[in-house]
Amino acid sequence: MKEERTGASIAGSLPYMIWGQAINQAVYIVARLRIADLLESGPKTAEVLAERTGVDPVYLGRVLRALTGFDVFREDEDRRFHIGSMGERLTSSHPQSLRAMAEMNSSPFLWGAWGRMFDAVKNGAPAFDQLHGESLFDYLARSPEDAALFNEAMSSRSLPEGTKLLEEYDFGSATRVIDVGGGHGALLKTILEAHPHLTGVLADLEVVLDGADIIRKSAVADRCELVVTDFFKEVPAGGDLYLLKEILHDWNDEQCLTILRNCRKAMREGGRVVHIGAVLGPSNVPDMGKWTDLTMLTFLPGRERTEAEFEALYQAAGFEMTRVLRIAGNWGIVEGTVT
Ligand SMILES: C[S@@+](CC[C@H](N)C(=O)[O-])C[C@H]1O[C@@H](n2cnc3c(N)ncnc32)[C@H](O)[C@@H]1O
Repeated sequence: MKEERTGASIAGSLPYMIWGQAINQAVYIVARLRIADLLESGPKTAEVLAERTGVDPVYLGRVLRALTGFDVFREDEDRRFHIGSMGERLTSSHPQSLRAMAEMNSSPFLWGAWGRMFDAVKNGAPAFDQLHGESLFDYLARSPEDAALFNEAMSSRSLPEGTKLLEEYDFGSATRVIDVGGGHGALLKTILEAHPHLTGVLADLEVVLDGADIIRKSAVADRCELVVTDFFKEVPAGGDLYLLKEILHDWNDEQCLTILRNCRKAMREGGRVVHIGAVLGPSNVPDMGKWTDLTMLTFLPGRERTEAEFEALYQAAGFEMTRVLRIAGNWGIVEGTVT
């Protein structure tokens, strides 16, 4: 049983792949109900947890029992559940919490499109658009509750990632950082806090900036402008470092070129553009990026890219790819400077 708990053996097991949606929904349910948060104060039975969360105790107990197989939870002889090693990142307080991401990724507004991934493959277009008749970002613009969850999930990853990125990349040599599609500003806040000489611009859609309290209520607010931006039209001018964190993977090559060319047009002499996100490795190697690539295929016109594909994009937009820094897992920082 023990080796069944490792990711490698799950990935290598056809039945687990076939029942993957049950695993996914079980994680979604406990993330949505914040079960790990409730267990932080000590172990509890399914009955207690169900009472606190307003769900059925027997059904919840079955979901928790299934997840004990992956050490998300552990059940003791008094039928009380404890947080297991895999469950720690489902607590909201964990510095690398995935709780909001686990809830967002499988919530009802996205789940329908997951069930239509076949249509994406058949027609070469995002399943989300085919199902809903509009793009994901158009949908989010008119759906405040789902958008709040989406932005919370993005921010909850960007805060810890920001700290890690500071160790890897020299943001200090810039003077004005433009975070293009920066969401609520979690990454930019971290960078500005670490470098008091820097000023920043958070550039995103109006509905997103309206909720950007992470930056508006922070100690760096006086060094950060919030600029409503449609990056397909133009991006704020005058920066020397243009950040694109998990932006290019949302879009096809033509759309990426428009974004990159708009950055190039807007930047000061000697400016840099910096992609932060997945950089795909070769085939035949397990790589989380190949699965987030299928997320893109399902929801957006974009894709994850290899180093060579980034280089081609950068060249076509008038940048030279000057550095690729591999960071944790499949992530990388791809820097381009104006040629
Ligand atoms: C995948 S999220 C990444 C957010 C942020 N960079 C992060 O990593 O946490 C993509 C972002 O692009 C923004 N976006 C989408 N279309 C845009 C557009 N046309 N102009 C500006 N921002 C846009 C979204 O609002 C969202 O904040």
